[in-house]
Amino acid sequence: MLDNINKIKEEVSKFKAATHVELEEFRLKYLSKKGELNALFDEFKSVAGEQKREAGQKLNELKNLLTETFENWKATLDDRAVSASGIDDLSRPGDAIDTGSRHPISIIRKEICDIFSRIGFAIAEGPEIEDDWHVFSALNFPKEHPARDMQDTFFISKDPEIVLRTHTSSVQVRVMETTKPPIRMIMPGRVFRNEAISARAHCIFHQVEGLYIAENVSFAGMKQTLMYFAKEMFGEKSKIRLRPSFFPFTEPSAEMDVSCTCEGKGCGMCKSTGWLEIMGCGMVHPNVLENCGIDPQKYSGYAFGMGIERIACLKFKIKDIRMFFENDVRFIKQFAAAGY
Ligand code: DAH
Repeated sequence: MLDNINKIKEEVSKFKAATHVELEEFRLKYLSKKGELNALFDEFKSVAGEQKREAGQKLNELKNLLTETFENWKATLDDRAVSASGIDDLSRPGDAIDTGSRHPISIIRKEICDIFSRIGFAIAEGPEIEDDWHVFSALNFPKEHPARDMQDTFFISKDPEIVLRTHTSSVQVRVMETTKPPIRMIMPGRVFRNEAISARAHCIFHQVEGLYIAENVSFAGMKQTLMYFAKEMFGEKSKIRLRPSFFPFTEPSAEMDVSCTCEGKGCGMCKSTGWLEIMGCGMVHPNVLENCGIDPQKYSGYAFGMGIERIACLKFKIKDIRMFFENDVRFIKQFAAAGY
């Protein structure tokens, strides 16, 4: 039996297949049911006890050699067939398409837009390069207001005063100038401020502005809308609180906080206060309505504005705002499951 095994081993080591037909002959001769390998396994059953070990080992070696030789030649012949035909093998599975993932800022912007569109807010956009009127004057900023300062604003030209918008409130003005009330809109966009870049501030960031103008709009209505937003964005258990504040374009003005999930028990996010500031808001100042051609005697309205980075940091527990701008795919890919 051992002689037989060695004989076959030698034959196999010399074997060359030029065609699939020859390879099939090889398979039939050695590897098929009635082939020589099976015959040897039959013979093996009657091998005497003390020789069984060695014969079994050799037989297994032969089996491996035969199957490897067959597989190798099959692969070689298949490859040759493909290159000979001059086209790729059409039966091969295609490469998976790498779809990438949405940027966390896009995810949150879409979520904010979806939440407000469910209660009837339409979306408006405006230019990033703006004039002084739309960014400041129409919004009731006095000429000497510090926000107009070189420190904050990127100027494109001084006369006429053209700037990179420092907030999306400029789009409010454009909407009011061109739309008759009732107006119910949100305005997402990119804004620019001449700030030193740090973990908490960047010179480019994103905001969403909201505006509702109609007859008899009340502060209570605003509060209700913003509470709805907070619960949709941060969960049903969220609470809000409004603190008095000041913006030139709203009166009264407030800043809105949302309750922290730690409930004030202590966390780095809310510094153990239990509250996180997420937006500014207020009743649109009558001067602003008038500047935009809307009669303040007849109409009133509320406005609000929030930073998308801020909401994204809170929602995804991100500690450094710069990560949004580095576009490191290892960071961005982590939000694939949250994107849609
Ligand atoms: N424009 C403000 C800012 O960039 C945010 C803001 C505050 C917008 C109050 C509003 C508002 O519409 O009513 O800081």
